[in-house]
Amino acid sequence: MNQEISAIRDRLGKELCILAHHYQADEVVRHADILGDSLELARHIDGLEARHIVFCGVHFMAETAAILARPEQKVHIPDLGASCVMAEMVPALLAEEVLSRLNRDGARIIPLTYVNSSAAVKAVCGNHGGSVCTSANAPTMLRWALAQGDGVLFLPDANLGRNTARILGLSENEIERLDIRGQGRFVPAADPARKLYLWPGLCAVHAKFNAGQVTAIRASEPHALIFVHPECDPEVVSMADGAGSTTFLIKAVAEAKSGSTVYVGTEWSLVNRLATRHPDKTIRPLRRALCSNMAKVNETNLARMLQELDTALPVRVEEHIARPARIALERMLTACS
Ligand code: 13P
Ligand code: SF4
Repeated sequence: MNQEISAIRDRLGKELCILAHHYQADEVVRHADILGDSLELARHIDGLEARHIVFCGVHFMAETAAILARPEQKVHIPDLGASCVMAEMVPALLAEEVLSRLNRDGARIIPLTYVNSSAAVKAVCGNHGGSVCTSANAPTMLRWALAQGDGVLFLPDANLGRNTARILGLSENEIERLDIRGQGRFVPAADPARKLYLWPGLCAVHAKFNAGQVTAIRASEPHALIFVHPECDPEVVSMADGAGSTTFLIKAVAEAKSGSTVYVGTEWSLVNRLATRHPDKTIRPLRRALCSNMAKVNETNLARMLQELDTALPVRVEEHIARPARIALERMLTACS
């Protein structure tokens, strides 16, 4: 498998670029030209010369790459079924409906979506003066969005929204978690006392971490450090020694003293790689939490994808969706440049 991939890479040279998210398994990561978190990978697209971009991650990431790539570039994902459970929690039509209910008394609520969302949801944000954020720039982008209107509708990750609001110093009575129940029936009009409306989405992987696990580690290993991703429950985040994006977690582990024990609350493939990379420290997952969708991409389907590059259907986003979604993404890239 390894040799087949190397042969195709040698044949295509600069025509091919393989990108991988940090949550990919080692068997995939070792073939990546660029490894990064969601923000880093999105930033790289603009400068890529390759005609074929193979994205090893989940579908919304490949879609984001397809929106930002030039028309002559083709973006592929080795398994089209690698979706993101959180991204699926926000249908674009429902987001549009909820936004118009919030705005029905003349308020101007700005939609801000986590990059873990469909292109159609990013398009809703682009069409209504909003933007996109990643876990690495959520505080900057929430501050930006709050300055644009009367309040913000943050989609789809309620935990990231609340954790970010706390960093910005918003009080609990300025935040409302929406009760959507599928039809948008229970969404109130915007209340001038509220600054932030949270879509009730979550990451099934990071939802596996809870306060009880942190308490148990604190009791049995009081010197252990605990770092978590901001998709975790706010209680877990407030009990941890630090919280931040995938890149923050990698750095926090690297900077921990040799000999220390570090628990990491994020996707297991990354924690596993960090443990191998830092044999002088004890690196453990807060709990083993694998993203089964990220794991759908493997060396076998990567090799097959590379063999079929010329005939496989690329990831495409229709222009009426891609155009406003690109506007939303570009607002983020400009605000965080
Ligand atoms: P980041 O790469 O922004 O840390 O995102 C984590 C994630 O859940 C990707 O799906
Ligand atoms: Fe989606 Fe969570 Fe998997 Fe990231 S880890 S792709 S947010 S389900």
